[in-house]
Amino acid sequence: MPMAQRVLHSARGQGSRPMPASVGTCRRSSARHFLARTVAAQGSRFETVEQAPPDPILGVTQAFRADEDDRKLNLGVGAYRNDDLQPVVLDVVRKAELRVVEQKNNKEYLPIDGFAPFNKVSAELMFGADSELLASGKIVTLQSLSGTGSLRVGAAFVNRFFPGAKVYIPNPSWGNHKNIFADAGVDVAQYKYFDPETIGLDFSGMMADLESAPEGSVVILHACAHNPTGIDPTVEQWKEVLEICQRKGFLPFFDSAYQGFASGDLITDAFAVRMFADAGLEMLVSQSYAKNLGLYGERVGALHCVAKDEGNAKRALSQLKRLARALYSNPPTTGARIVAEVVGDPELFEEWKGEMMGMAGRIKEVRQQLVDCLKQKSPNRSWDFITDQIGMFSYTGMSNAQVENMTNKHHVYMTKDGRISLAGLSSGKVEYLANAIVDSFDNC
Ligand SMILES: Cc1ncc(COP(=O)(O)O)c(C=O)c1O
Repeated sequence: MPMAQRVLHSARGQGSRPMPASVGTCRRSSARHFLARTVAAQGSRFETVEQAPPDPILGVTQAFRADEDDRKLNLGVGAYRNDDLQPVVLDVVRKAELRVVEQKNNKEYLPIDGFAPFNKVSAELMFGADSELLASGKIVTLQSLSGTGSLRVGAAFVNRFFPGAKVYIPNPSWGNHKNIFADAGVDVAQYKYFDPETIGLDFSGMMADLESAPEGSVVILHACAHNPTGIDPTVEQWKEVLEICQRKGFLPFFDSAYQGFASGDLITDAFAVRMFADAGLEMLVSQSYAKNLGLYGERVGALHCVAKDEGNAKRALSQLKRLARALYSNPPTTGARIVAEVVGDPELFEEWKGEMMGMAGRIKEVRQQLVDCLKQKSPNRSWDFITDQIGMFSYTGMSNAQVENMTNKHHVYMTKDGRISLAGLSSGKVEYLANAIVDSFDNC
């Protein structure tokens, strides 16, 4: 027990015998003074709080900002930039924002489960407006704080209602998955995903690990554009994953952070989620609008729960609300209103799809330019893995030493796992990056 607590403990006395009120007040007050003096003599109460390491992803941006070299390039951040490497606010978002301002809404709290029109359009976007499951009330939705907050509420739900169940995340996975589940008190295990030999999916390793996972485990699946590898299972492989989830009674927990960003098409990118839901699997799905609508800082997203029937779905929602109430009470309003305007209005929705295609298209273009340039500069190596990968990222398979060379010598900032964000690359910087990559592979 720390000193200050020990002092308080002994000053309070051990027994629970009632004391006359005046005596109690007097003793408590002198104990408080004594405690205050002791704490003052000891120094800070936070003395034992250790310095936390920088976040492995957001820390990269901090280091980038501190670098004064003009050639510097930030490929660490998972946020879209235009070809001038500037952040982008979509035109549809600007239009929706104007509408929201004109509505002169009040600033009252939303219900715990969020803005109902937002929940409706979000569930339709994920599962299809014509989904039988939606019509029959088997899917419930909680608006939450973007993808991370939705995952965190889901993690708390797993911890409370499936005590002892392990959560299996792919190896590698988005750096925050482990944090989120571990912080919620859930045991985290990994299943194989990446094969460094082929720089592709280790599907047999993945299936073997899932086969040996205990029945009833929770399995995190990236809905599309797996982060960090950019490698997704094929349709046939998804079917095998579905079969094993069914057979072993796993609870799939889909993380959908890139719907529309992987292929440029919202329906294609929801394929795996819809296939699992339509096959009758119960599951959780987190949904983020950070990337596809560029609402990063608005923190807008949702957690969906798909249950066998309406009764189970409703009870699950009641408990999700209870968890959200304790975590942050209720979600923010503005982002949800913007999403409801864009996704719920046929005209803005069409415009959004066009803009999303534009973002996905620019990333595909620089991906191709990078591969062409690498092939020219280093024809003896194989670079096609970069164009085989999809979404925002490329997982280069670089070692720690190679990543350090990229940053220390070439001022190219990327995560330590060798991931580069192609959303942060402009066509003007392709050659510079290709030189840095070739130098790092050849000389480190
Ligand atoms: C796989 C994955 N899941 C979830 C998120 C959560 O993002 P946000 O909380 O900004 O919606 C991200 C963001 O990079 C991600 O890559």
